[in-house]
Amino acid sequence: MNTNPAISFSKTRLVLGGSEIYRDISFEVGAGEFVCLLGPSGCGKSTSLRLIGDLLPMQEGLVQVAGMTPAEAWNQTAFVFQSPRLLPWRTTLENAAFGLEMRHPEISKADRLERAQRELDKVGLGADAQKMPVMLSGGEKQRVSIARALALDPQIILMDEPFSALDHTTRHRLRQQMVDLWAETRKTVLFVTHDIDEALFLADRIVVLSKKPTLVEEIVAVDAPRPRDPDASPALVQLRQHLVSIFDRLEGPDAALAS
Ligand SMILES: Nc1ncnc2c1ncn2[C@@H]1O[C@H](COP(=O)(O)OP(=O)(O)O)[C@@H](O)[C@H]1O
Ligand SMILES: [Mg+2]
Repeated sequence: MNTNPAISFSKTRLVLGGSEIYRDISFEVGAGEFVCLLGPSGCGKSTSLRLIGDLLPMQEGLVQVAGMTPAEAWNQTAFVFQSPRLLPWRTTLENAAFGLEMRHPEISKADRLERAQRELDKVGLGADAQKMPVMLSGGEKQRVSIARALALDPQIILMDEPFSALDHTTRHRLRQQMVDLWAETRKTVLFVTHDIDEALFLADRIVVLSKKPTLVEEIVAVDAPRPRDPDASPALVQLRQHLVSIFDRLEGPDAALAS
């Protein structure tokens, strides 16, 4: 059994376009853990996912994925972005199968579609497989992109503010669905957000990043049982106050709850 952390950043420093983005980032994500990366806009949250996914080369320090380099581990990860990135000329099912088609062309088309259908069933879109993306709501499109990631059966799902463009109700529903999928599949999830309440709802632990040049400001464990209501649980209310005070210090007093 692989006992390495799913993801590990060790003394990572990064300069892009002459500007120091990371001064020193170190944190780990355990296998099967749900970790939120929380930080102000521009602090390098998306950049961290690009490093993990081998979309950006490392400079100083070390990033490891399941004990390997990102280049060796590229097929252990799958992305869900803020925008669902569906192909408009393909059906929902073909979109859900698209990641598999890119990564595993050796798998027969019938098998790819069968796997994709299973994942669509899991996200509650089994009956919509033949619809075109234009017929789906924003939340449904994002669920297709989650199914597309799950169909790859990755160890690690990297999510970059995936619900931030959705309306409040849909966002809340998808957060709950993501917790359910995580509990069912035991994948490792690294979920980027700038929304304190989202992190409190989702995470086992929250890695709080500073403004750039970025440091790990604090790592907060969230022990409250799920399903969570950050308004109702005294422990979560207290944690929220703590995180808001960190954001106040980082960004100025009005920024913390602006989202
Ligand atoms: N290729 C690049 N060249 C120069 N600067 C970059 C590049 N990519 C990202 N950046 C800068 O790095 C910082 C972090 O970006 P990003 O990871 O997208 O932030 P976040 O996702 O936390 O909002 C930003 O200031 C951004 O302008
Ligand atoms: Mg970003």
